Amino acid sequence: MIRQRGNPVFDTASERSARADDRQSLRGRFEAVRRESEALAANLSPEDQAIQSMPDVSPTKWHLAHTSWFFETFLLEPLDPGYRTFDPAFAYLFNSYYDAVGPRHPRPERGLLSRPTIDTIGAYRDHVTAAMLRLADQADDPVWRQASPLVELGIHHEQQHQELMLMDIKHVFSVNPLLPAYHAPRPYAVPSGGPARGWTEFAGGLHEIGHDFGRGGTAFAFDNEGPRHKVWLEPFRLASHPATCGDYLEFVVEGGYRRPEFWLSDGWATVRQQDWEAPLYWRREDGEWRIFTLAGERRVESAEPVCHVSFYEADAFARWAGRRLPTEAEWEHAAAGMPLHGNLADSRHFHPCPDAPAATDGELRQMIGDVWEWTASPYVAYPRFRPVAGAIGEYNGKFMSNQMVLRGGAAVTPADHMRITYRNFFPPSARWAFSGLRLAEDL
Ligand SMILES: [Fe+2]
Repeated sequence: MIRQRGNPVFDTASERSARADDRQSLRGRFEAVRRESEALAANLSPEDQAIQSMPDVSPTKWHLAHTSWFFETFLLEPLDPGYRTFDPAFAYLFNSYYDAVGPRHPRPERGLLSRPTIDTIGAYRDHVTAAMLRLADQADDPVWRQASPLVELGIHHEQQHQELMLMDIKHVFSVNPLLPAYHAPRPYAVPSGGPARGWTEFAGGLHEIGHDFGRGGTAFAFDNEGPRHKVWLEPFRLASHPATCGDYLEFVVEGGYRRPEFWLSDGWATVRQQDWEAPLYWRREDGEWRIFTLAGERRVESAEPVCHVSFYEADAFARWAGRRLPTEAEWEHAAAGMPLHGNLADSRHFHPCPDAPAATDGELRQMIGDVWEWTASPYVAYPRFRPVAGAIGEYNGKFMSNQMVLRGGAAVTPADHMRITYRNFFPPSARWAFSGLRLAEDL
């Protein structure tokens, strides 16, 4: 038994049995998430898992170790007096950005770590997983009450890294002239004549967005998703679908990347500096646009949502189209109550797909999954936001400058990781995330 010192807690048999069910369910989800990370890495050779192809990318084996470090640092070491640290050197190697925890290895140098090997990292994972399961089985109730919110956070943290593993290995493979495929392509339906595309109108007015930590029960959300608060919306409409590759190709062909009038000043400077002429992973060969995917390279499919565009490109495309990007409040209001179904990572496409042909006119489609949708909203704190005390407070709050919000999840986002209130964020020039856009317009 892992015990906390202090007074015993008196409770009823039914409360005890409900808590035991919650504990078993969290334990099961923890195990499943650990296995999923290992399954995602199983396609990769040791050489694949060691490469860092740009500073934003982390090697696969670093993700596998860092997600274990998170459980070790924030749960096992503080809460389990019998826990044996696997290797004290890992605190330096696998701390990502937590200043309160101590110094860390520089992020751009993660690709230089030929040691520890993937076998040692596998043993580290097994060690941490076994200790976490022991904690779940043996901790007394007061310890488990402290542990369970952190287990939940650790599960969602590892799911974020599962998405990063797919983003990162895609970039690693894209810079290899052999253009290796991560997995075999899965078939999907291509609609004949294209889906029925239109607009959905919203009256605007006073609405609420964000996660309600007070009345939201025990449902998990990251701290940055709340508090729930009021917003005022002017009347607007949203496109029924994300912008497609076909739409985006028109922008490319009409000289979108050569005409400064469509671009924000910083965006135009980035286009010229980086020589952008199309989304990341697009390449022109013999007059045909080709796209690199996790299933290898193929021609661009015009009906699928455009992906791997930066905020600058999404914004320029919207201006070229005579429209704008939605704010995150507009997006969340429009998505409220939608089922959390879509082309997410469990569909195993790992790429946005064309919409299925069943759409009715103007119905909002593909809000969940396929591509993260850039919004016009900067990533800043909601009113009355307070990060939690201690190192865990560094999880989200300290990144609230110079980034833009994306909504809705993508084809590489774990399905049970998604929420309508989920706020993803990246710098406006980033495009290695599975990021696309949906147009909006004032009424
Ligand atoms: Fe992390």
